[in-house]
Amino acid sequence: MNKFPYFFIGVVLLTLTACYYDHEEILYGAGANQPCTDSVGTVSYAQKVVPILRASCYSCHSGSYPSGNQLMGTYAADKAMAQNGKLYGTISYASGYSPMPKGAAKLSNCQIATIKKWIDGGMLHN
Ligand code: HEC
Repeated sequence: MNKFPYFFIGVVLLTLTACYYDHEEILYGAGANQPCTDSVGTVSYAQKVVPILRASCYSCHSGSYPSGNQLMGTYAADKAMAQNGKLYGTISYASGYSPMPKGAAKLSNCQIATIKKWIDGGMLHN
């Protein structure tokens, strides 16, 4: 019997599977299915939180004239913003807050989860 139909069906199945994965990447972003290891256990302020804030927030919110008069960039300032709810409110795009980082893409779910874990854990200076 001719083996061609089986080969053909195999190729079609492979193609469909490949398309499925392509679409998943487009919909959820690369790495969406990777485990979020940064938010596991006790989140370190210095090692996990600061690098996110430095990359996305400090450029506008530190120094003598922070944007919106919202100072960040030191433990005391970052903790104060966490305590008044504005840190999580802005990065999670909660209603009533300006979405941050301004003019840039929303932080990844993993970055937001990491910051939330640090806040929920008592905003340790660790
Ligand atoms: C490109 C500059 C820029 C970046 C980057 C930026 N901000 Fe802002 N931010 C502003 C400006 C300008 C304002 C004041 C206008 C407004 O509220 O939209 C502001 C306002 C705020 C406010 C007060 C808003 C409110 O609703 O009370 C908070 C809190 C804040 N930013 C936190 C952050 C955090 C956290 C990040 C990083 C995830 C960040 N910002 C990144 C420019 C920036």
